[in-house]
Amino acid sequence: MMKGKVVITGAASGIGAAVLKSELERAEHHIVAIDIDQSGLDAMKKSLTDEELSRITFCCLDLADRPAMQAAVADFCQGEAGIDKVVISHALSNENQIGQQSVWDRVLDVNLHATQRLLAAVEPSLNAGGRVVILSSVLGKAGKVANSAYCVSKHGLLGLVKSLALDWAPRKITVNAVMPCWVDTPMLRRELAPQADALGISVERMIRQIKKRIPLKQLVKDSDVADTVAFLTSPAAAMITAQGIVIDGGFGCGV
Ligand SMILES: NC(=O)c1ccc[n+]([C@@H]2O[C@H](COP(=O)([O-])OP(=O)(O)OC[C@H]3O[C@@H](n4cnc5c(N)ncnc54)[C@H](O)[C@@H]3O)[C@@H](O)[C@H]2O)c1
Repeated sequence: MMKGKVVITGAASGIGAAVLKSELERAEHHIVAIDIDQSGLDAMKKSLTDEELSRITFCCLDLADRPAMQAAVADFCQGEAGIDKVVISHALSNENQIGQQSVWDRVLDVNLHATQRLLAAVEPSLNAGGRVVILSSVLGKAGKVANSAYCVSKHGLLGLVKSLALDWAPRKITVNAVMPCWVDTPMLRRELAPQADALGISVERMIRQIKKRIPLKQLVKDSDVADTVAFLTSPAAAMITAQGIVIDGGFGCGV
């Protein structure tokens, strides 16, 4: 039997796309796939069967565009099914210096404020017992050189998770974060390219160096993160809320 809807942001790429595939495999919910990247969504559509396509509503929009977001939510919230799960995986990871106001404003607007506004907009349609999972990062509890806007947004999302978990606990809605480190996605490769350039080495070589620093000696896969999201949104995780689950292959465990 079909249940309520699953809303996935950043669904065209990386972790969001892996979460979408994992939801499709379970074939339980209608999926709302949101992304700003029309070509990414088009590429995804081409890889899916007609039956899979019939189970997805695609929304191409900039989540920081308030009227566009509100209109999309009004549209996909129609009907009686309600929303069972929201997975927030969109983000910008642009580097910045503290005085680069336009980068700061855009990263905070997309990563943090648009997340708050989307969750506020879908709140009336969230079913009791629903699940919210937000992609934070290990940079939700650590800093990084030239990345203050991103780090602040990821710290802020953890605060949002902890508070919203309390606000929505009476409706048995759980709210959790996942905090990965070095997931092999287009975002990671975009970030590593200038660093590799500066060092005069290839991105592949940089990835080999990173793997050596991780106790489990491999990058996190997008499917590893999707598996954790699947657990947190499953009945088995009904009593887990207000948490940030680190997925880092042991990188943060010590010296
Ligand atoms: N890749 C990593 O190493 C890593 C590590 C820690 C945390 N994360 C987090 O995981 C999440 C997913 O990252 P990813 O690696 O899959 O990135 P990605 O760049 O592959 O995918 C992010 C998606 O978000 C979309 N997006 C960006 N801005 C948007 C906007 N304004 N409106 C709608 N969609 C927008 C992009 O088009 C893209 O498809 C992000 O929150 C990221 O911060 C990633």
